[in-house]
Amino acid sequence: MKTSTRLRGPIINTELPGPRSREIKEISEQYEPNASSEQVPIVWKHAEGVWATDMDDNTFLDFTSGVLVANAGHSHPRLVRAMQEQAERAVNTYDFLNEWRPQLAKKLVDITPPNLSRAIVLSTGAETIETAMKIARLYTGKHEIVAFHGAFHGRTFGAMSVNGKRSSPGIKGFGPFMPGVVFAPFPYPYRSILCRGNEDECSERCFEYFKWIIETESEKDIAAVLVETYQGAAGSIIAPKDWLQMIAQWCKENGAVLIIDEVQASFGRTGKLFGFEHYDIEPNLLCLGKGISSTVPVSAVVGEEDIMSVLTPGSVSSTHGGNAFSSRVALENINIILEENLSENAARIGAILDARFREMQSKYPSIGDVRGLGLVFGIEFVKDPETREPAPELTQAVINEAFKRGLVMIAPIGFYGNAIRVAPPLVITEEEALLGADILEEAIAAAVG
Ligand SMILES: Cc1ncc(COP(=O)(O)O)c(C=O)c1O
Repeated sequence: MKTSTRLRGPIINTELPGPRSREIKEISEQYEPNASSEQVPIVWKHAEGVWATDMDDNTFLDFTSGVLVANAGHSHPRLVRAMQEQAERAVNTYDFLNEWRPQLAKKLVDITPPNLSRAIVLSTGAETIETAMKIARLYTGKHEIVAFHGAFHGRTFGAMSVNGKRSSPGIKGFGPFMPGVVFAPFPYPYRSILCRGNEDECSERCFEYFKWIIETESEKDIAAVLVETYQGAAGSIIAPKDWLQMIAQWCKENGAVLIIDEVQASFGRTGKLFGFEHYDIEPNLLCLGKGISSTVPVSAVVGEEDIMSVLTPGSVSSTHGGNAFSSRVALENINIILEENLSENAARIGAILDARFREMQSKYPSIGDVRGLGLVFGIEFVKDPETREPAPELTQAVINEAFKRGLVMIAPIGFYGNAIRVAPPLVITEEEALLGADILEEAIAAAVG
């Protein structure tokens, strides 16, 4: 495995943001609506491996992977070469065949369980959710979708309709949404009123509630259950194995399509190629995105023969989906992830970081909960470990202090905006990961005062 040899850091040469970054920020403020999430003020100029340099040549360690995209590291030389070569050959081919799209589909089928035999290549994660719900409805002839509290599936209307946390700015005010969605609880032992104090029974209680909601709140016309293996946006809440197995079994027994949204959890992120591999379950439809290419927008729905066979010409396609450029890059990226054993690296470095974060938790009472799987963590900050009252201001302060010291993290996540997300590129070395953890600890110490 290769990481950067050219860039080393962190190196902070200027105030943040520096003068050149401020110039770009001013253009943004003048010409863009204030719609993006509020992130620390880095203006990316160059990124390589796990290192990012801003417009003023300050160098930061990246604990974001973009937003869990750059699994193979930023600007992996093989991806750069694939992009350069393909840019000179053909880029957009619409639904006409190109040499790469079917090869990518074959690869996706080859690396997923044998029950999945066909793949549709698209552009964004939300598009895979829309597509999977359409297919499930067509296949079952039913209309309801069961989704979960805290879920995040994207920002288009269908995807918004199945997102939990209805008060978030990405949802509130945009409705009404698609009817026929039934929400059920996702096990969240640290906070759920179904589970707190009864953590050992969390799975059983949530599953019982799921069945009760279906009994009482649905028309019993369920096309699909749509679930993430871990809820990233809710604060990296990891589904318990027994609960997800019960959900999968329920789908089998009730003829509902099990759609697993692994737009975020796939391609090595959790220490296995796919998140569902931790659960001994098989999706009927699998939604993939983000780390599928580590770079350009690519996504895919991989599904079972029977289910995919309901599609007819013209029923699913998109302008950019499966173009020659993005398909080639995704194929090369998957080969890199497999050949460089990046899932294994994620598991190994993830275990090291997990131990380090738990050590921090024992030192700082403000760290309420640490959740991790492979190289994705949610670290939840609280005002008081007993009451677990969320501490969103402290969380933002930790992120700001880390940034000043050259560590980039995504803005606070979670139901209460009190969790930080740690998700570096999977090429990270032990030395780099521990350096990032040291910076994070310094930032926590500075923020708690
Ligand atoms: C689990 C999950 N599903 C779907 C999406 C939507 O993906 P996109 O932003 O590419 O539409 C995301 C994006 O963060 C996600 O995390």
